[in-house]
Amino acid sequence: MNIPSLLTELALPTFFSYSSQWRAPSLANSHLCIQLPLRDMNSIRYVDQMDLAGKRVLLRVDLNVPLRDGAVADDSRINAILPTVRYILEKGGMPIVCSHLDRPGGKRVPEYSLRPVSVRLSELTGKKVDFVDECAGPKAEQAAASLTSGSMLVLENLRFDPGEEANDDTFARSLASLADVYVDDAFANAHRAHASNVGVTKFMDQTAGGLLMKKELQALEGVLEKPDRPLVVAIGGAKVSSKMATIENLSRVADRLLLGGAMAFPFLRALGIDVGDHRANGEAVERARRMLDERPWSIVLPDDFAVDDGGRREVDVKALPSDKDVLDIGPRTIERFASEIRAAGTIVWNGPMGKFEQEGFDVGTRAVARAIAQSPAYSLVGGGDTNAALDRNGLGGSISYVSTGGGAFLEMLSGRELPALKALERPKISA
Ligand code: 3PG
Repeated sequence: MNIPSLLTELALPTFFSYSSQWRAPSLANSHLCIQLPLRDMNSIRYVDQMDLAGKRVLLRVDLNVPLRDGAVADDSRINAILPTVRYILEKGGMPIVCSHLDRPGGKRVPEYSLRPVSVRLSELTGKKVDFVDECAGPKAEQAAASLTSGSMLVLENLRFDPGEEANDDTFARSLASLADVYVDDAFANAHRAHASNVGVTKFMDQTAGGLLMKKELQALEGVLEKPDRPLVVAIGGAKVSSKMATIENLSRVADRLLLGGAMAFPFLRALGIDVGDHRANGEAVERARRMLDERPWSIVLPDDFAVDDGGRREVDVKALPSDKDVLDIGPRTIERFASEIRAAGTIVWNGPMGKFEQEGFDVGTRAVARAIAQSPAYSLVGGGDTNAALDRNGLGGSISYVSTGGGAFLEMLSGRELPALKALERPKISA
């Protein structure tokens, strides 16, 4: 049955609740066409399979953290790499920590220096951490050579050198020359093909993933390959075009796909709802229509929203004013989404339901976060804004796994192969 006839049959305004009217022909078969960057979990070796004693370890991490007044404003990404740092130190290795911070564009930008991050790393580990204001060349070589057992070094921001983002071999070779072995613990950067996570692996005899990388891959692959059903996926946020591929891939595996924020507009428009031309463009609408045609029972859309009318005003989806900003989902949608989440066997969440930073418009995002936190189901959450929404509500600790990845998390969910993981698959260490 196509969508227009379905709409006619169900009679508005309950037309968004396909899943209450329709059942999947067979949920058991519904995951058959999911695209996964399928890998054998053993295809990547991890740091705990390496002999580290007396070795200099080039440790690529993602310390792209927010800074405020010259200090680290959120140290979650630093905390996330501590198990790997401690493991290397305990086994007698000497970590040479390298990362990018922000997007300085291949030149030195003092406010993006990793020096404050090295200070925080020292505080969190209780260890002396040296910092060198280069990431390649004689100064970095000298600092790496001076390392002794129990000490560690942080290199300057990799993206101060144009060779990093260009995946330049000369730069990659200089990084490799600093260390004996290479460990990549930067899952959040694994969707980039740069010198420090792809190029460098060509010049190292031994490469492995870190403990955070292992945890991230286990969490994501577990959810996509063998979720307890129903698998309920909530996707929100504003960057519609960058999330369409993820939604397409997840629509093949999810039993329920709850779409909030701006993500809902192309789907609503595909159903013939007037959401305002500026809120949904042609290509996204076409892709949404295809998904609705293929799996109408799984897609759950808002049937009310909250708009900014000098404050929160809740409106039915059929009465969306075109001149007001739509900043949250409405109460009926919140209840519907929460009830789907309560029934879930596994939950994945990326993207807030609205502009939760603005007073009065955090209701939907908070309700979704709470429902997920209260659910006994396995829950996997990722994305900078989503994690911020969890923290704001003090709920991060109630989620089964909070990914450090934003773009990498979405790319992995979209079924694409991440270049840094491919680079690690080279069988570089002897068992
Ligand atoms: C992130 O924060 O998602 C990663 O550090 C990647 O950063 P980038 O989008 O600047 O490559």
